[in-house]
Amino acid sequence: MHISKRAMEMNYSPIRKLIPLADDARKRGIKVYALNIGQPNIVTPDTFFTGLHNYSEKIVKYSDSRGIEKLIESFIESYKKNDTFFEKEDILITQGGSEAILFTLMAICNEGDNILVPEPFYSNYSSFCHFAGAEIVPIETKIENAFHLPKMEEIEKLITPKTRAILLSNPSNPTGTVYTKEEVLMIGEIAKKYDLYILADEVYKQFIYDATPYTSFTHIKDLEERVVLLDSISKHYSACGARIGLIASKNKELMAMILKFCQARLCVSTIEQHAAANLINTMESYVEDVREKYKNRRDLLFAYLDTMPEILCSKPAGSFYAFAKLPVDSAEKFARWLLKEYSYDNQTILIAPGPGFYQTEGKGEQEVRFSFCTSVDDIENAMIVLRRALKVYRKDVMGIEE
Ligand SMILES: Cc1ncc(COP(=O)(O)O)c(C=O)c1O
Repeated sequence: MHISKRAMEMNYSPIRKLIPLADDARKRGIKVYALNIGQPNIVTPDTFFTGLHNYSEKIVKYSDSRGIEKLIESFIESYKKNDTFFEKEDILITQGGSEAILFTLMAICNEGDNILVPEPFYSNYSSFCHFAGAEIVPIETKIENAFHLPKMEEIEKLITPKTRAILLSNPSNPTGTVYTKEEVLMIGEIAKKYDLYILADEVYKQFIYDATPYTSFTHIKDLEERVVLLDSISKHYSACGARIGLIASKNKELMAMILKFCQARLCVSTIEQHAAANLINTMESYVEDVREKYKNRRDLLFAYLDTMPEILCSKPAGSFYAFAKLPVDSAEKFARWLLKEYSYDNQTILIAPGPGFYQTEGKGEQEVRFSFCTSVDDIENAMIVLRRALKVYRKDVMGIEE
């Protein structure tokens, strides 16, 4: 039967493609530490479940395509605490941050339009752009520079009449980089100069460590019309399966266009929205506690990575990922070898190979992303396995004696 070009050209998730090998290893009785995905192991706040149980309607009706008022108001309140001010009409509730990104791209891009994205980037950005007919134009960032942005002139060179927006996750998945105020202002300058949107993906905003200063694009005064905030409860409240996110922007014309997409998919799960609206009641205490947990995990992971020979990794300032360059010939080959051929004390690890976060051919070959949203014990054991595995791999596969 016929299959569309769109479907054929779409990639499978590079983060999930090693899962069958991990399942096989588990079937062989090996304990696999999964440091590959961003699924937090932290308990979702009770308030979410209270909200769920308090739902007392006798019919599960469609809700407003914009999202339920109670939830929109709870987001407005939570942003106020961070000096970001939105009105009800500035917000559309979406099925996770994923739909927020997708609908925004669909509303601003024609076939063949360009979106600038700092590379390496969250791999689903490629898929969302593909849905919208847009192409990613990568902004090169380097591990040696902790993946901070290049100079303004370098970014300007990438801009053509087809460029519509700069999309960036801040803090970054996959690198943990938090952009400085200067970088945020520079992106703002570029956006104004070339009349671009800024698609500010802040789904990790609550996870910034060591009092690293944070500047949201929503804090910059004269950018209001071009900034689109993309957010979600998935990571902030450890509620990935609830599928609640949002688009927030002061650009009324754009929001009116995006609303058409929201109406076409009718609504976001009514009950999950009611549950999510109740999260506001635990926001501060919960997030502070979780941030502390992630910080400890980050410190532990980084302490190991930093002391392993020939690993290059800068300490992640935010999110729950570390991106490292390993002393291996191919991160992809190493990741497969870990699952198919290696175990230490009946344990091995599942990691996300770097090339999956790059569009540019040949980049990230030796890099991997580690997620630290798993337990301290698992991180510690995984790092012990990694240290041993690197020695064995370099000797047996690469022929390097140390
Ligand atoms: C940077 C970034 N943006 C958006 C998302 C989408 O999250 P969700 O659709 O669960 O809200 C993710 C998920 O991992 C992410 O890492």
